[in-house]
Amino acid sequence: MAQRPYIVGNWKMNGTRAMLSEARAIDRAAQRHMKVEVAVAPPFTLVHAVHREAEQIGVGAQDCSPNADGAFTGDISATMVADAGAKFVILGHSERREGYGETSELVRAKADAALEAGLRVIICCGETLETRESGKAEAFVAKQLKVSLPKVEDAGEKISVAYEPIWAIGTGQTATIDDIATMHAMIRKLLIEIYGEEQALEIRILYGGSVKPENATDILGTAEVGGALVGGASLTADSFMSIALAATESVEG
Ligand code: PGA
Repeated sequence: MAQRPYIVGNWKMNGTRAMLSEARAIDRAAQRHMKVEVAVAPPFTLVHAVHREAEQIGVGAQDCSPNADGAFTGDISATMVADAGAKFVILGHSERREGYGETSELVRAKADAALEAGLRVIICCGETLETRESGKAEAFVAKQLKVSLPKVEDAGEKISVAYEPIWAIGTGQTATIDDIATMHAMIRKLLIEIYGEEQALEIRILYGGSVKPENATDILGTAEVGGALVGGASLTADSFMSIALAATESVEG
């Protein structure tokens, strides 16, 4: 059975407890969008508080350590994330790959740790503008995913992929609908090779990068787009839930 569209807010390093009212508003509004799975990944410091507020939405983290426990000052393990109430974790976001030198091997190790702790994972991938302009975007993303994706039995339930072209994140630029469709089709094919058709067809491939209420309908209506990973526009319930509404409408047709 095809899964519901997945609309995930990535709050990045935004939000103190003052943002809890926004999380409550998102949660209340999500109760009117049962055909869509809505989730928010606040900073670590708010995971537990948002979890306590949430009746409808899923709560996740934006990263976790590949290590189980021990002398890793400043790190947060997957078990701790799960203990705080998170049900999923975003891994391999380009801001971590680019900003902190995270390799696909490290992303894979984090994914293994997250799955071991009972979390679902959203594995991010995406190319730079330079790579896209050189015509190598698909090969680059395929390589990232081949190394980053964990091997797991029921992948359809546990894994989502987020394709986020780096040049589209936070810039107001989005990839063309054709480029999104081509990349998502390539990713689907790769998922079938890795997990087999039955599981692979259940894996939602999200698009991310300047998704806004104004472009959500077109993006979510594109073949093989199973949802959106939303940064800036997830920080207010108003704009985030307009995107959820577009997802509801894409299901209802
Ligand atoms: P953006 O961020 O929607 O602000 O472009 C998306 C993301 O980085 O996940």
